[in-house]
Amino acid sequence: MRSSLLKSALLMLHWSSASSLEIPYRRSYFYVGGSYVDDGAGGHFFQDQMYVEKLGPVDGPSQPTPIVLIHGQGQTGTNFLNKPDGGVGWASRFIEQGYEVYIVDQTFRGRSPWRPGAGQAEPSAFTAEYVQQRFTAVRNYALWPQAALHTQWPGPGTMGDPVFDAFYGAGAQYIDNATYQQTAVQAAGARLLDRIGTPAVLVGHSQGGIMPPLIADARPHLTRALVLLEPSGPRSATRCPPAVARPDVELITQTFAARDENHTDCILQAEAPPPRRLANLADIPILTVTAEASFHALYDECNVRYLRQAGCKVDHVELGDVGIHGNGHMFFMEMNSDVIQDLVHDWILNATKGG
Ligand SMILES: *[C@@H]1O[C@H](CO)[C@@H](O)[C@H](O)[C@H]1NC(C)=O
Ligand SMILES: *[C@@H]1O[C@H](CO)[C@@H](O)[C@H](O)[C@H]1NC(C)=O
Ligand SMILES: *[C@@H]1O[C@H](CO)[C@@H](O)[C@H](O)[C@H]1NC(C)=O
Repeated sequence: MRSSLLKSALLMLHWSSASSLEIPYRRSYFYVGGSYVDDGAGGHFFQDQMYVEKLGPVDGPSQPTPIVLIHGQGQTGTNFLNKPDGGVGWASRFIEQGYEVYIVDQTFRGRSPWRPGAGQAEPSAFTAEYVQQRFTAVRNYALWPQAALHTQWPGPGTMGDPVFDAFYGAGAQYIDNATYQQTAVQAAGARLLDRIGTPAVLVGHSQGGIMPPLIADARPHLTRALVLLEPSGPRSATRCPPAVARPDVELITQTFAARDENHTDCILQAEAPPPRRLANLADIPILTVTAEASFHALYDECNVRYLRQAGCKVDHVELGDVGIHGNGHMFFMEMNSDVIQDLVHDWILNATKGG
């Protein structure tokens, strides 16, 4: 009796910390895409399937539009569950707001199986120093001018700090081959939209931010809107949507000089021949979001110009311009993540109004 009382007291203590902030939901998981491949020795493997975690409000969704969340390089879907400091992540916020949420682990990442010897490059991983420089302790390194403005990461963002260790420890290996990764996630993502069966909002971050346009290009009628959080783009990726649509045709590009010391040159399509257009995306609203202190502040406007040149309707938000200050690249898990999720949610409501 005594010991079970003690146990429940301890349990309550535990629950009254971070986990009590979490919200109830319904959960299931499944895999999409992939196919059997010959192993060259008389056997078969299943390859290129993608792990999907489906979370929804306990009483069913009250919003008609499902949300698909796609993490970036070296990360997995845990990015959108609770935050490394124990706070409530974006997935829970969307569920609270009535959405059905699908969180993926990109192919060959996390719970999407990695098959040794699949003929791809060896897996890569970020060092802790790289993560400190780019994501969590950027002020210490000042590798770009805006880094000085970074204040929203909880704690010092360095090795040995419990929040940093929780974040870095959750990082995963990745395949450093954009062609492979974009092709595989596009294929599995299209199958995910087929399975959901109703037009969804695709949200992608960083290297996962190139995936929503690719998946939408394959399934425009199943895509309601795209939210691109500091997406990879022509500046930072070897391929971009038109190149995947026509891998045989090389893009002719032109370079525009940086507008000031806080921005980079932009690479856009040349004026002649006429720029190729992302015809399948023309009717799909797109939001791009860039944080004030991130390395993406240098060049995200180039990605926006690139998408607009290709005929896309893009709303671009620089968080610093709308009074949301101090964020780095991982802004959806920083201290003010709720404020940014509110902004994204408002945009989604606006963009999906009227059916
Ligand atoms: C560049 O960024 C730095 C740091 O935020 C700022 O002090 C400076 O005024 C910026 N320069 C321009 C031209 O905006
Ligand atoms: C990258 O992936 C593509 C497509 O799967 C493959 O053809 C190519 O050989 C890969 N490159 C390397 C360096 O492994
Ligand atoms: C949503 O629409 C309202 C009304 O038009 C507007 O005031 C608001 O700025 C929009 N929000 C976003 C994030 O676009």
